[in-house]
Amino acid sequence: MIARRALALEISGIRRMFEAAPPNAINLGLGEPDFNPPAVVRDALCEAVQRGDNHYGPSAGLPALREAIAARYRHITPEIGRESVVVTAGGSEGLAATALTLYDTGDEVLVPNPGFVLYPAHAKMCGATPVPYDLDERRGFQPDLDSLERRITKRTRAIVVNSPANPTGGVLSASAVARIRKIAQEHDLTIVSDEVYEEMVYDGKFRSFWGTHERVVIVHSFSKMFAMTGWRLGFVVAPPPIAAEINKIHYHLIACPPTPAQIAVLAGLEAGPSVNRAMIAEFRARRGLIGKALNQVPGLRCTIPGGAFYAFPQFRWPGSAGDVANALLRRGLITTPGDAFGSLGAGHLRLSFANSRANLRRGIRILHEYAESVGA
Ligand SMILES: Cc1ncc(COP(=O)(O)O)c(C=O)c1O
Repeated sequence: MIARRALALEISGIRRMFEAAPPNAINLGLGEPDFNPPAVVRDALCEAVQRGDNHYGPSAGLPALREAIAARYRHITPEIGRESVVVTAGGSEGLAATALTLYDTGDEVLVPNPGFVLYPAHAKMCGATPVPYDLDERRGFQPDLDSLERRITKRTRAIVVNSPANPTGGVLSASAVARIRKIAQEHDLTIVSDEVYEEMVYDGKFRSFWGTHERVVIVHSFSKMFAMTGWRLGFVVAPPPIAAEINKIHYHLIACPPTPAQIAVLAGLEAGPSVNRAMIAEFRARRGLIGKALNQVPGLRCTIPGGAFYAFPQFRWPGSAGDVANALLRRGLITTPGDAFGSLGAGHLRLSFANSRANLRRGIRILHEYAESVGA
């Protein structure tokens, strides 16, 4: 009665924790900014709705928004135009449409371990096999590229990369980006680069995979950039022939992205980089606060995140990540068990710092109390 593809999927560990949360718990399980969208974006949404811009639009998105998105990449490829852009219902739909466009039954897809939960799930939904490649915690969660290359077979179709990364906060080094490009070229693979945390890089600079490699798909989102996770708007950028195929799938999934939200984010992009500067500065400050505080909790060791808004500490406490997360939940702290993100997430917790400094301090206090209770 139910298709195998549905039965094969598990409910995301992240959602499960969220649903089991007691009231008043401190939520460091959140994967979304604790900010409102910028005022200019909110105002533009309200105006669009009041004006009557509430109807279907072009499947690939409003031309002016696609043009504004293309302009973000023009410093890398001056010739890029809106035919490279498809506006999607969040990065999630962008990832799904990309997977359905690229992966066939029997293909293999390299996915980061630990990594965001949708990558293996989407591969499986397409009848493909996700093949995890290791991120090396001792090197700030850089991929182990020798072992990645060894995992390439005749069936490998794509490499999924994510920088800055969920759940690790890792940011790919320039040499890792260059080598992944080279590996993809040599083995004729497509790079699917999830860049939804582009704006949240605290050390060094952001490096997009967009460039001269003709088989790359950038998946991006306004969810984190403009703190509008509930509006469901993102985009993919790809060479025009790939973008046209993604647009076909995307049309058959959602017909078109939401019109008022597109008008609103266009106003946000036109307002320039200052619109989310205060939010990013606050994340940077919290990153310093939480990184230091976690390393002072007995039994925790945390690589300082270079980007996104997650810390991914390793614990030396009894029990699995699920046991520890549940024990913390009973004490009023929501975290996400690291093994929800793959086998190398075992023994880790993901803590989001998209929460107030006061709540981060309260959360750290609960971690200290818990460490004491297990004799760490
Ligand atoms: C790495 C990564 N990619 C994509 C997404 C999808 O976000 P959205 O669908 O809200 O754009 C998320 C959300 O948490 C994420 O962490």
